[in-house]
Amino acid sequence: MQEKIKDIEKQALAAIEKAATAAALEEVRVKFLGKKSELMAVLKSLGTLSLEDRPQAGSLVNASKSIIETTIKEKMTALLQAEQAKKIEAEKIDVTLPGKGIRRGRIHPITQVMEEAKSIFLRLGYEIAEGPDIESDHYNFDGLNIPPHHPSRDMWSTLFVSDSVILRTHTSPVQVRVMEKRKPPLAIIAPGRVYRRDSDATHSPVFHQLEGFLVDKKVTFGDLKGTLTEFLRQMFGQNKKVRFRPSFFPFTEPSAEVDVECVMCSGRGCRLCKETGWLEILGSGMIDPNVFKAVGYDAEKHGGFAFGMGIERIAMLKYGIDDIRLFFENDIRFLEQF
Ligand code: DAH
Repeated sequence: MQEKIKDIEKQALAAIEKAATAAALEEVRVKFLGKKSELMAVLKSLGTLSLEDRPQAGSLVNASKSIIETTIKEKMTALLQAEQAKKIEAEKIDVTLPGKGIRRGRIHPITQVMEEAKSIFLRLGYEIAEGPDIESDHYNFDGLNIPPHHPSRDMWSTLFVSDSVILRTHTSPVQVRVMEKRKPPLAIIAPGRVYRRDSDATHSPVFHQLEGFLVDKKVTFGDLKGTLTEFLRQMFGQNKKVRFRPSFFPFTEPSAEVDVECVMCSGRGCRLCKETGWLEILGSGMIDPNVFKAVGYDAEKHGGFAFGMGIERIAMLKYGIDDIRLFFENDIRFLEQF
């Protein structure tokens, strides 16, 4: 019996020595200390021994069992530590290596100019309204005093969705939509995309406009001049000259086109201003009584002015860009300059 126990102990210690992983060691533990192990069988068989032999044999088994247990425990701790160290080593990262550069994004120049224009009018007390890009010919034309088949519809190269549904050719329909829903006084700007069948270095089939209008009891052409002059000076420079030229739009009477002194030659005449000294910036005028009538306003009791400008055009003049397509190609080398 004594020999058998010592023999088991020896085998167990040899197996523990050999176990190279925590999992292998666990197998060893089950094999030598588990319910079905030889040592447990010996323990169970103690009952068959004589009363005198029993205590000695019992303490022998327990001594071996405790030796095996402690050895396993120590080895287990060592193995787990080694495994942990190996894992840490494998997962180690070199924090001194250079990182991946984070590239800063930029606001698109069109968005920048649009935001600047909007903020000038917000400071003047205007509020923002929006309308749909896909518009009915009613809002885009009829409501703006442009009847069906009238030649003035040709002022805009319209893109059609169906006979009466189009992609809006300007932001002016927002005037009609807002006036239809609300009563004066109104001071509104309407930023947004517009669409035309047009494409070359200075025309894009999609571009941006900022519309504006003001309606109150008594509004004069002087109010229009003052407001737009203030806007253009904030946009292009406080000392810039501004000029109003008679023009025609079906939804305003009288109408005016507004020019600002050339940003490149300060009026002397250059390639940018085609030797005129002036840059054409926006269309404007006093809201036509027919537009008021169509939305149910009393044209006798109300007056108003309106204006519309192309954001791409302003951005091109401000930054000296000669091809509108650059705004839509999204070449990072171009965009990074703003
Ligand atoms: N809607 C015009 C266009 O796209 C621009 C314009 C001119 C807007 C005069 C106005 C205005 O509100 O009064 O060509």
